[in-house]
Amino acid sequence: MDKYLVLGNPIAQSRSPSIHQLFAKQTDQNIAYDKQLVELDNFNNHINTLIAQGIKGVNVTMPFKEQALAISDQLSDRAELAGAVNTLSFVDGKIFGDNTDGVGLVNDLKSQQVEFQGKRILLLGAGGAARGVLLPLLSENPALLCIANRTVSKAESLVATIKDSRAQAISFAQTQEFDFDIIINATSTSLSADIPPISSQCISINTVCYDMVYSKEETTFLKWCRAHGAKQVIDGLGMLVGQAAESFRIWRGVMPDIAPVLANLRVELSKD
Ligand code: ATR
Repeated sequence: MDKYLVLGNPIAQSRSPSIHQLFAKQTDQNIAYDKQLVELDNFNNHINTLIAQGIKGVNVTMPFKEQALAISDQLSDRAELAGAVNTLSFVDGKIFGDNTDGVGLVNDLKSQQVEFQGKRILLLGAGGAARGVLLPLLSENPALLCIANRTVSKAESLVATIKDSRAQAISFAQTQEFDFDIIINATSTSLSADIPPISSQCISINTVCYDMVYSKEETTFLKWCRAHGAKQVIDGLGMLVGQAAESFRIWRGVMPDIAPVLANLRVELSKD
């Protein structure tokens, strides 16, 4: 039986094993998927031991995503731009690194009938979470992708790196000059029940608002968006399932159905 793991520190909270077990059941794939705590200074040794044991691949979470990038023999473009790897595949003694977070976000939104073609997108933040979704968002052909960040220079350097005329760096204050179809919060503000200070003028009833963070209660950002007129607000639980689905596809060559697994997880989250 092929074996996979999710590695992190801490790791006890990880929902990846239950997500992948549901995918395996759904697609009739005979695999094992567990979680494993890795000591902070032992990532590379740990990976080499897993390869020697015949493990086929791992998901990598905090704080090892940069180390996973560094240990990869070959990287996808999206992982390279993200500067982080969340999926490692071990094939014929080589390590392939990918980042499925951005595709996870796109797939989650698509499964909720959100369209990207010709749309104006606002991405809030310019840290690792934002970098991870840039290429997958641009490959969906939006008309505009504004990146707003507290430290505007970071948004500017991201835009300079991607060299795409649809991408533009702005300040939070400048958001008042636009109307957006989709707003994605990739800042870490929701973790401290805070919100990025954007203008409520860039939100309308038709703006889809997404927060990459999820919690039992609606996040402060999504509450704020709703209070300013947004009808469709979505948290990041589906992104978690979506990134797992893309990792599963890379490893097994079959794309699982996200929706039933997300519904299942939503029920589990409500019981926490
Ligand atoms: P992650 O990997 O989660 O993206 P990160 O790389 O530390 O974490 O990035 C955190 C992001 O949240 C950054 O865009 C950060 O803005 P700065 O680049 O200006 O630091 C943003 N952020 C964090 N706290 C914030 C706050 N209180 N208000 C606005 N933005 C904030």
